[in-house]
Amino acid sequence: MTISKEAIMQALGTVQEPDLKQDLVTLNMIRNLEIDGGKVVFTIMLTTPACPLKGKMEADSRKALASVAGVESIEIKWDSDVPNDGRTRGLIKAPIRNAIAIGSGKGGVGKSTVSVNVAVALAKAGARVGLLDADIYGPNTPTMLGVEQLPKPDGPRIIPAEAYGVKMVSMGLLVKPGQPLIWRGPMLNSAIRQFLGDVEWGELDYLIVDLPPGTGDAALSLAQSLPLSGAVVVTLPQLVSLEDAGRGLNMFKKLEVPVLGVVENMSYLELPDGTIMDIFGSGGGEHLAKLTNVDFLGQVPMDQNVRIGGDRGKPIVDSHPDSPVAQALTEITQRIAQKVSVAAIGVNNDLPISILE
Ligand SMILES: Nc1ncnc2c1ncn2[C@@H]1O[C@H](COP(=O)(O)OP(=O)(O)O)[C@@H](O)[C@H]1O
Ligand SMILES: [Mg+2]
Repeated sequence: MTISKEAIMQALGTVQEPDLKQDLVTLNMIRNLEIDGGKVVFTIMLTTPACPLKGKMEADSRKALASVAGVESIEIKWDSDVPNDGRTRGLIKAPIRNAIAIGSGKGGVGKSTVSVNVAVALAKAGARVGLLDADIYGPNTPTMLGVEQLPKPDGPRIIPAEAYGVKMVSMGLLVKPGQPLIWRGPMLNSAIRQFLGDVEWGELDYLIVDLPPGTGDAALSLAQSLPLSGAVVVTLPQLVSLEDAGRGLNMFKKLEVPVLGVVENMSYLELPDGTIMDIFGSGGGEHLAKLTNVDFLGQVPMDQNVRIGGDRGKPIVDSHPDSPVAQALTEITQRIAQKVSVAAIGVNNDLPISILE
């Protein structure tokens, strides 16, 4: 018997996209449907390659198709088209669909670690990713990605370095190593303007911005001059860190930057015998998220491989992808990507315009 495309589409029309709360057919997510005897092949077009719901959509699709007579095998391929958040990105002329800042009230909480690993995790999923190390006081991402210099430009514009599939620019690569980074008002502003305006990013799905710590001038002017899709706040579990993180979070709220959520880093240490040690206390990140009415994006445990990898330019999501830390960071990345896409689409208003052909 021959299977009709209509029968397949009708079955897939019962499968919901869990975030967008509409079915895959209405959302025009089913592409390139081919039927060869009893074999059905199609592509599901996602709004982010780092979609945490792939497993569920695949299982639901297979279940729905099981009831179509004649179907013997199903092959599902994946593709994605990340929606643009619709913001005009000021000085940045490159087509950057979404810009996500990683901030915190203070340094040393793992802002750069989270930025680097989120960027690498997105790239590994297949997204086009840039990382702007805008921590002009303590630019660490070159070391964390093992990058020593920027490529030689062939014009006036800065060409990003590339590592682990991520395009990266850092003030650490624009000044001589060891040179102190002391900024005064006007200098700071012109550095930031140059930094934002002069980089040849090309087309990106995501630009991750590692912000300077705190709520001082540098963090403020960066967050202001770069329209952001959203911001992620990193904190340690303990009270003093929460106070700082809370200030950072309020800065974003005042600037009307959507806060995507709180990440709690160095949440606990698992000892070889399985005992859990709460070195910096526990539950603080979740508490802060509740208190400020934003999402809690997850806990990242401590692992010495994070630090070793950071020092050696080997991000943990790449070097130890199966470790609990890497898995936590990957899940956090997926939640961030998912939230950014859902917001860009405007779930309650329109159909996902950018995924409609
Ligand atoms: N979950 C973790 N486990 C172990 N070490 C970590 C973890 N997160 C960060 N570190 C280490 O702590 C130090 C500070 O982290 P970093 O990302 O540079 O913080 P920030 O950018 O906020 O100043 C780095 O040496 C880093 O490798
Ligand atoms: Mg840092």
